[in-house]
Amino acid sequence: MKNKKKFKVYISEKRIKKRISELAEEINKDFNNSHPLTMIYISNGSMIFAADLARKITLPMKLDSISASSYFGKKSSGKITFAKKIKIEITGQNVLLVDDILDTGRTLSCISQFLLARKPAKLKICVLLDKPSRRLVDIKPDYAGFTIPDKFVIGYGLDYKELYRNLPFIAVI
Ligand code: IMP
Ligand code: MG
Repeated sequence: MKNKKKFKVYISEKRIKKRISELAEEINKDFNNSHPLTMIYISNGSMIFAADLARKITLPMKLDSISASSYFGKKSSGKITFAKKIKIEITGQNVLLVDDILDTGRTLSCISQFLLARKPAKLKICVLLDKPSRRLVDIKPDYAGFTIPDKFVIGYGLDYKELYRNLPFIAVI
């Protein structure tokens, strides 16, 4: 309750919860129930979203995480450094890549290319937030919780200088 006074709530806990149930319902319908789904979340940001989403998925599911940073020089179209790669073999598997927010698209574009090189049967992208106005790379999420304008948001996994990830709602700073 104290938190709510300090921060301007942009998306409430209740709305997030409801939207996650809707996303999971779509995902449960779209993926084949007889084939396990591998959820790969990008840490740290999507940890909280992935944890809530995973518990609404009724398909047989494997779970892994990836941690990466992307760098963009003047010439390079994107280079990626992994702090943690995946342990699960995804070749021929149905993969759902989960991130907190799709902003310029660079991170998700690099990570999806890395995963596609392993030849999964299917690769779909699910993000809690989509900021399409900031996009620099041509990439669209298959599932998006909320489309937001160009605002810097924190909470529910999203950080500002590594802080505020534990807020149960999304706020603007
Ligand atoms: P992209 O590569 O520009 O799409 O950046 C994606 C990453 O930038 C996300 O996974 C977040 O870690 C971070 N990010 C982008 N926008 C925000 C924001 O509004 N709040 C907090 N983190 C953000
Ligand atoms: Mg981040």
